[in-house]
Parts: sequence; C-alpha cells; structure tokens
Amino acid sequence: FATTAIPNKRGVITKSIKKAVFYLTKGDVVAIPTETVYGLAANIYNESALKKIFEIKQRPFFNPLIVHIDSVESLDKVAKNVPEKAYLLAKNFWPGPLTMILEKNKTVSDIVTADKNTVAVRVPNHPVALELIKKMGVPLAAPSANPFGSISPTTAKHVENYFKHSLDVILDGGMAEKGIESTIVGFKKGEVVVYRLGSISLEMLELVVGNVKVIVNSEKHPIAPGMLEKHYAPRTPMMMSSNPLHTAFNLIGKNIGLLVFEGQHISKDYYTEVLSPKGDMEEAAKNLYAAMHKLDTKGFDLLIAEKFLDIGIGKSINDRLSRACIRETNFTPNNIFI
Ligand code: TXA
Ligand code: MG
Repeated sequence: FATTAIPNKRGVITKSIKKAVFYLTKGDVVAIPTETVYGLAANIYNESALKKIFEIKQRPFFNPLIVHIDSVESLDKVAKNVPEKAYLLAKNFWPGPLTMILEKNKTVSDIVTADKNTVAVRVPNHPVALELIKKMGVPLAAPSANPFGSISPTTAKHVENYFKHSLDVILDGGMAEKGIESTIVGFKKGEVVVYRLGSISLEMLELVVGNVKVIVNSEKHPIAPGMLEKHYAPRTPMMMSSNPLHTAFNLIGKNIGLLVFEGQHISKDYYTEVLSPKGDMEEAAKNLYAAMHKLDTKGFDLLIAEKFLDIGIGKSINDRLSRACIRETNFTPNNIFI
C-alpha cells in the first residue's frame, strides 16, 4: 500500500495513555483503540492535525470523519437541535457502536464534516478510548486506521503494519471486541435512516425506535449502477459463495484460501480461516478483519468467503464481504456512506 511516509515517525505501540495525550496535545495524529476498529485520532479543534488524518490515510477531503465524545452530556459541544429519537438511541446504545448524523455546531471544523452542515458522533465503548477523550477534554475525530479502501484494523499490530512510518504512537487497547464498524444512522422527518450497516443490527435498532429505513449502497440495491465502492478489501481478489468449498472444487488450478463461518465442512486441501467454530455471529464479526488480514499475507490467487444469513449482524458481515469483493472502483462524492 502506498501510504504517505512522514519521516522520523516511529509507530511505537504503547499502552501509555499519557503518551497519547502528549502527542495529541502537540497536534499529532495518534492511533487509538475502540470497541469496533482502531481509529486515527486528532483533536477536533486542531485543523492541521485534522488535515494530517486525511494525508496519512490518503482519504479524499469530501469524506467526513466521525467525532468521538466521552458521554451524551458532551453532545452539545458538537451538535444542535438533537431530535428526541437521538437521545432515545443514545440512552440505549451509548457508549457503543452507534454513530448518529446530527446538525452540527458552528465550532466544529469544516474539515471534520467535509463542509456538510451535519456531524457524525458517537461515544465509543472502550475504557482506553474513553479515558483518553476525558483526559484530553476535547472530542476526537477518528476514521478507521486503515489506508483508504483497505481492510480495517482490529489490533494495534494491524495499524503498525499499515502506518509505522507515519505515526509516532499507536495506543494498544487489545483486540477490538466488536470487530466491525459502528452502525450509522440519521434522522429524516422523524424517521430513523440507516446509512451504514454495522455492529448494531437493524433488529436491535428496531426494538428501540420501531421501523427504520435503510439507505445503503449494496450489491443488490446499488444507488446508481457502477458506483459501488470497493472497500474493506484485501489485495488478494476475493469472492463470496454460500458454499466456499464447493466453489473452490470447481476452480481447479487456482491457489485458493477460504474464509468460513463455522467450518462444518472444511477440507485439508484448502487453507481455511474459521470465524466462529461454535457458530456465533458476534464472534465471527469480531474475528472477520483479522482473518482477512491473515489470508491476505499468504499469497493466494483467490479468497472465497462464505456468505452469512442475512439476519442480525450477519447482514452487516455480508455488507463488508461484498464490498471487499468489488474490484473496480468508481468513487464519487454521492457515494460515501461506506
Ligand atoms: O466504528 C467506527 O465508526 C470507526 C471507529 C474508529 O469509531 N470509525 C469509522 O470511521 O468507521 P470511517 O471514517 O472509516 O467511517 C465513517 C463514515 C464514512 O463513510 C463517512 O462518510 C461517514 O461516516 N460520515 C462521517 N460524517 C458524516 C456526515 N456528517 N454525514 C454523512 N456521513 C458521514
Ligand atoms: Mg473506514
């Protein structure tokens, strides 16, 4: 991956929150743990630090960042006219993997929001992230800590592999508990709209707010044909199948790695990453990106991933897998909720 190599960075993995505070305070970008995936964090009030995030990640400036706060009480620092349903969702899911798109306060930099009048906010459910935000006393903007388009990191080591030359500090908080990104919702005319499937399932949301509307670009329902974004993608080509072993049998002559859910039908003829031997979809989500990272280092011609049932978090896993399978990109500003 071509990442911007800023000289003299050491990319040291540390457990010292004090060190992270030191670097963030002097305007640096620091990798931080959250319960979903690792993030590349900066002080939302330091514009040069915010710009560094985009530079390091090679992310287009029109793609806005998520703001991380320590509690719902801090929401007024970044958002205004917050709807009642947002407070209801916050009460049920914060701290946790739910990001809400709200009207922004003018104090939030246009760099964070990519000139939009909205801001994306969440309270991460990770003790290290929470302590860090509290110690800083300011919200932290953080996208996932991967180069634009590639597999998200769920361990400090994944971040090191990507960015050791462009970061000074990688704050280690262990392996991310949830393993896939937060669910993103917004509010339109009193209705809750889901813009990104994620760690909180649609079923869980609906238990709290009733029916939700889903507006995500997906393979089955592209908002505009040819505009699907390749994302969360290994360098090795990947495809999906409801029976990976069977699909592999039919592709003779290819060096294939398999990514499967429970691994009931595995064959010693194929290297296989099993996501949850006990068949737990939450555990599968937690292990998903680490397994993809691992498969990507093995030099296969092709990876075949098992399609999950489209229920609960299985639907979010399928979303990530299908985006990882897309090879051609046609990225436009209308297509950023990914
Ligand atoms: O779990 C997560 O959400 C992780 C951790 C680090 O918190 N963060 C994350 O950030 O996944 P990122 O940047 O990889 O994805 C954020 C998504 C992007 O697709 C972006 O377009 C969308 O949130 N987003 C951010 N602000 C927005 C806004 N004001 N309106 C619409 N979409 C927004
Ligand atoms: Mg991301």
